[in-house]
Amino acid sequence: MAEQKATNVHWHEGDITREHRAKLLGHKGATLWFTGLSGSGKSTVAVELEGRLNEMGVLAYRLDGDNVRMGINKNLGFSAEDRTENIRRIGEVAKLFVDAGAIALSSFISPYAADRDQVRKLHEDAGMDFIEVFVDCALEAAEARDPKGLYKKARAGEIKNFTGIDDPYEAPASPEVHLHSDRQSLDEEVEQILAVLRERGIIPA
Ligand code: ADX
Repeated sequence: MAEQKATNVHWHEGDITREHRAKLLGHKGATLWFTGLSGSGKSTVAVELEGRLNEMGVLAYRLDGDNVRMGINKNLGFSAEDRTENIRRIGEVAKLFVDAGAIALSSFISPYAADRDQVRKLHEDAGMDFIEVFVDCALEAAEARDPKGLYKKARAGEIKNFTGIDDPYEAPASPEVHLHSDRQSLDEEVEQILAVLRERGIIPA
């Protein structure tokens, strides 16, 4: 957990609440946290889901590992400490999006269960929905896809600490949504997630 470094800072409450913003938008905010191996299809599902939500008039916004690592997290690498900080920052960013009323679609390998649980706690303590989506895909399938050619490089020893090869991935014990991207269609995956969003009253039934 990062420590509070600044002293003498005070939270400044505004007049417009999350409830006001939900009324304005016609749906609640929430974080969908996609976790899984590189190449498991996290970003693919998030892109498709974002499109479907947009068609339905629901404000969603994608936060994506590779993209975020080119901006706000450009100073972080792939050591355990840096991955933890990567997830902590993105957890805070996702929470801001939820507060603004959007559905944050966060796609990060997020290999450590403790880091994901911290983000869950951050949301739940603030009364926000946190939905962990495990994009489960056999390593062999992700490696066969190898969309960025990174598994090949990792096997050749050109990338160190690559998740699934020489770095760990801790699968979620009880995710709200469990997808099997190596045997489900993209459409099935999106429908499975939409059903959970409706059940929870995040988007209209
Ligand atoms: S996380 O582990 O900190 O959650 P994140 O999702 O942000 O990772 O970034 C993962 C992406 O960075 C991968 O999809 C891949 O494109 C790239 N990458 C580069 N080096 C590594 C590495 N050592 N392990 C995993 N992914 C890596």
